[in-house]
Amino acid sequence: MAETSNNNANAAKVNTSNSLLTELAWEVCNQVGGIYTVIRSKVPSMIQTWGDCYCLIGPYFHHNAQAEFEPTDDYSGPFGQAVLKMRNMGFEVHYGHWLVTGNPLVVLLNPYSVYDRLGQIKYDLWHHHHIPTPGNDDLLNQVEAFGYLAKTFLQQLVQPDVTDKNVIAHFHEWMVGPAIPELRRERTNIRIIFTTHATLLGRYLAMNDPSFYDNLTSVNWLQEAIHFNIETAVKLERAAAHGAHIFSTVSDVTARECMFLLERIPDVILPNGLNIQRFIALHEHQNLHQKYKDKIHQFVMAHFFQSYPFDLDQTLYFFTSGRYEYRNKGFDVTLEALARLNYRMQQAGIKKTVVMFFITKQPYHSVHPGVLQSRVMMEEIRETCVAIQKEIGKKLFYAAASSTDFKLPALRDFVDDYWQLRYRRTLQSWKTHNLPSVVTHNLVNDKTDEILHFLRSSNLVNNAHDRVKIVYHPDFVSVTNPLFAMDYGQFVRGCHMGVFPSYYEPWGYTPLECIARGVPAVTSDLSGFGDYVMGKMDEKVGKGIFVVKRRNRSFDDAANQLADYLFEYVQYSQRDRIALRNQVESSSEEFDWKNLTRYYNKAYQLAMEKPVF
Ligand code: G6P
Repeated sequence: MAETSNNNANAAKVNTSNSLLTELAWEVCNQVGGIYTVIRSKVPSMIQTWGDCYCLIGPYFHHNAQAEFEPTDDYSGPFGQAVLKMRNMGFEVHYGHWLVTGNPLVVLLNPYSVYDRLGQIKYDLWHHHHIPTPGNDDLLNQVEAFGYLAKTFLQQLVQPDVTDKNVIAHFHEWMVGPAIPELRRERTNIRIIFTTHATLLGRYLAMNDPSFYDNLTSVNWLQEAIHFNIETAVKLERAAAHGAHIFSTVSDVTARECMFLLERIPDVILPNGLNIQRFIALHEHQNLHQKYKDKIHQFVMAHFFQSYPFDLDQTLYFFTSGRYEYRNKGFDVTLEALARLNYRMQQAGIKKTVVMFFITKQPYHSVHPGVLQSRVMMEEIRETCVAIQKEIGKKLFYAAASSTDFKLPALRDFVDDYWQLRYRRTLQSWKTHNLPSVVTHNLVNDKTDEILHFLRSSNLVNNAHDRVKIVYHPDFVSVTNPLFAMDYGQFVRGCHMGVFPSYYEPWGYTPLECIARGVPAVTSDLSGFGDYVMGKMDEKVGKGIFVVKRRNRSFDDAANQLADYLFEYVQYSQRDRIALRNQVESSSEEFDWKNLTRYYNKAYQLAMEKPVF
C-alpha cells in the first residue's frame, strides 16, 4: 500500500539541482475551495527548496488575475523560454509572479483562447482515451481546453533547447488531469505525479448513501458516474490517476476510497499542512484569544441581550464551519450532541452558557432586519453610555475638587434629565420578549433547511433557560461582514473550540486551522486529519485534539461521544482552558509545511525512480 503510515519520507531526497518542478492546479491564482489553501500555503516551503526551478501553472481568468498576478518581462529561465515558444505558436500565455507569500513564478493559460479547437480536443479525448464529452458543460469545456494548453506548454518546456534538466509535473485534482493521458500517449519526457484531494464519486456517494463505507468495496463506478451525471469528469479523474507515474492522495482515508473507486492504490500519501506562524512569546496567542473573544462578545450582546442577559465571563464559544454538507460535515451529529449537552448542563445545574456558531454558506435573501436593527440599537446604547460617562466624569471631578466632606456624591445626580430619559427610552425600545433568532439571515429555503428543521423540532431555539444557544450564520465570516466585522482567522481565535466530527472528509483543514491558532478542536476518525492524528500523534489525542469515533459506529454512539467531549470541556476551569490552549498551540508545529513537504519530496524521488516511458 502507499507510503502512508511509515515515516520513510524523512529520508526523501530529490535532486533539485538537475530538476525542474511544475505544479498544476485549477486554483492557482483562482480561489474556489480548499486546494487554494494547500497550494498557496505551501509556496514558501517550495520556494525554499526549489527556488527558480519551481513554477506553478493554472488557468487564466482575467478578473482573478488582476488581483493576484503580476506579469514579468524576464524570460531568461526555462519557464520563460517555454512561454516564448508557446507565444510563437500563437497561444495566449501569461507569465509572471503570483502575489502571495513566496512570490512564485506562475504560468497562466487561458482556456477560452483555444475554444475554437474544442471540437478536436474532445474528439482526441474520445478517440485516444474513450472519454466522451457530450453536451456543452462550461466547466468541462474549460478543463479540457486547459488540459490541451497545459500539455502543449509542458512539451515546450522539455525541449532540449529550453532545458536539459529532468522535468517533474505535479497535477492536483481532476480539473487539470486531462493533460496527463495525452502526455503519456505522446511519450513526453516528463515525470508525472497526480494527486487527488478527494474522489468525485466518493463525495457524491457519501452524501447520498448512509452506508457509504460499508458499500465502498462493491461500487460499480461507471453505473454510479452515469447515475450522478458525472461520467466525463469521473473518466478524466481515472485517466489521470492511471496515467501518472506516481499517484497520490491526501490521507489513508481517501487512499481506501481511491482503491475501490479509481482502482489504483496510491503510491504515496501527501498530508496537508499550513504555514504555521508561532509567536516567540507564548502568551501572545492567549492575548489574541482575549482580544477577538471581546469582539465576539459584541455580537453576542447585540444578538441575545435584547431578549435576556447572561454572564459573558461564564460563556463559551463553540463553532463549526465549512461547506453546507449536512451529513458529510457532521452537522447532524453536532446538533444532536448539542441537544444532549444542553440537557446535561441543565440537569447538572451548570450556570455557564455555550454559544454555538454554525458558519456555512446557504442562499439567503438578506440579513435578518431584526438582527441588524438590534446591533444598530446597541451602538446607540453604547453612545448614550459614553455620553453619560463623560458628563459624570467632568462633574465628579469638579465635585471632588470642591468637596469639604470627602464623600463620594450620588453619581446619578450628575446625569441631567435629557440623558436619563434617553437612556431609559433607548433601552425600552431595544428590549423585547421575543427569543433571539437562531439564524442570522432570511434563508431562501427556510422551510426545508435541515439545520433549522432540527433546531425547531428539538426546541433548541434559544429559550432563556437553554444552556446551549445557537447562532446559524449562513455566510462565511469576513471583515466586511455587518454582524461580525472580523476575518475568519480572528473569529477562530476568539472561540473556545471548533467542532468538526465529519462523516466524509478527505483531509479537513478546519480543525487544523484551529490547532494552528491554539484553539482546541474536535475531528473524527473518518477525516484524513483525524486519522493522521490518531496514527502519528496518538499522544495528543484528547489533549485539545478530540477525535470522535465514527468508523463502524452508530450515529447515536458518535453523538454521545461528542456530547461527552463537550460536556467535559464545559466543566473545565479557566486555568484548564488556558493550559489546554497552550498544549494545542504547541502541537501545531507538526503541521507546518516545513515538516510536511518531506512527503512531497518523497513523491518526486519515487517519480524519478520510475522509467519515464
Ligand atoms: C487568555 C488571556 C487571559 C484571559 C483568558 C480567557 O489566556 O490571556 O487574560 O483571561 O484568555 O480565557 P477563556 O478560556 O475564559 O476565554
